[in-house]
Amino acid sequence: MTIEMSSTETIIGREEIDDFEAILSVVGTEESDGRHVVHSDYDTIFTWDYEKGARPKLNKLYEKAKKAQWNGETDLPWDTDVDQERLVVENAEANGGFGAGFDLSGTPVEKWSEKEWIRFGVESQNWTLSQFLHGEQGALVCTAKIVESVPWIDAKYYAATQVMDEARHVEVFGKYLDDKLSGHYPINAHLRMLLDDIIADSRWDMTYLGMQIMVEGLALAAFGFMAQMTGDPLLKQLLRYVMADEARHVAFGVLSLQEYYQGLNASELRERQEFAFEAAVRMRDRFLQQEVWDRMGIDPKAIVPVVQQAPERGQFQALLFSKIVPNCRKLGLLDAADGWLRTKFTELGVIEFETWEDTSEEYDTFASVPQAQAAS
Ligand SMILES: [Fe+2]
Ligand SMILES: [Fe+2]
Repeated sequence: MTIEMSSTETIIGREEIDDFEAILSVVGTEESDGRHVVHSDYDTIFTWDYEKGARPKLNKLYEKAKKAQWNGETDLPWDTDVDQERLVVENAEANGGFGAGFDLSGTPVEKWSEKEWIRFGVESQNWTLSQFLHGEQGALVCTAKIVESVPWIDAKYYAATQVMDEARHVEVFGKYLDDKLSGHYPINAHLRMLLDDIIADSRWDMTYLGMQIMVEGLALAAFGFMAQMTGDPLLKQLLRYVMADEARHVAFGVLSLQEYYQGLNASELRERQEFAFEAAVRMRDRFLQQEVWDRMGIDPKAIVPVVQQAPERGQFQALLFSKIVPNCRKLGLLDAADGWLRTKFTELGVIEFETWEDTSEEYDTFASVPQAQAAS
């Protein structure tokens, strides 16, 4: 049975945040006309204060972004041969073999041969890169909205460079999927609901919180994880370039919201905390790869809870929050409104990351394109 959860239904209201039955009941669909329409009412703001550099940190970010542009067509080694099956086998060997670390007895995959595991690995690559692609389009759309809705000229300037960055990211992930991998997946339902919520909200700072802090904070960690794991030099380089951009984008969110949140009261901050927490849960839920199990002919409800119990899996998920939690802390969101978000992140098992480095300055340490080229 397919249950479509409306994007206004809150996760905070869900009785149990680890209710896999509920999570897996929400399945992704793609409209037959190939378009997904989200309605949004928001103010487009002109400013007559054109003073460039009134916000020096945003101005510095903008100047850096202008120099860090790269060309997705010509700066990447697209002639690299990508053998998906070989990559899957090498990755499994490096991690102790297929299914290592999981107790799969009694599950539908207990008797899987190497052939099925390889197919699963290939599908998993297709799925992961497809979700990256959809997330990048979300960033493209959100950042164009920020150009219109943010009231500060330095932020409009910076956001305009990010629109170009995101167009390039959609382009390179799309090209990698088409030229090097073997299939596309529709957007995961949890990711789609999250992007819908971010786009539909009329408040400009919620676009930043949802996209720059939550989605891009997670993307920065996930791309870093994949860049480390993949044996494909093309994907490694592609991700390294994208990450240098993403680090600036997350810093853009932190620097902008830091100023804005100083003017908000406790109940307004509590709304931001709830929004951040819902986004965190939706992002965690999107990593269950339910569509891949489905395509393999396995009922996700029979396998996902088992896979989720493996300790390595928990570590991977927690790592995804390694950027989000310190950035929420930097914004004062953990402890505002009686520490509501601190309590929630503790329940989610990710509070330990609060003391990791935040991204407001860290972006400078990510290699720019010329540096990355020199290192490769
Ligand atoms: Fe991006
Ligand atoms: Fe981005």
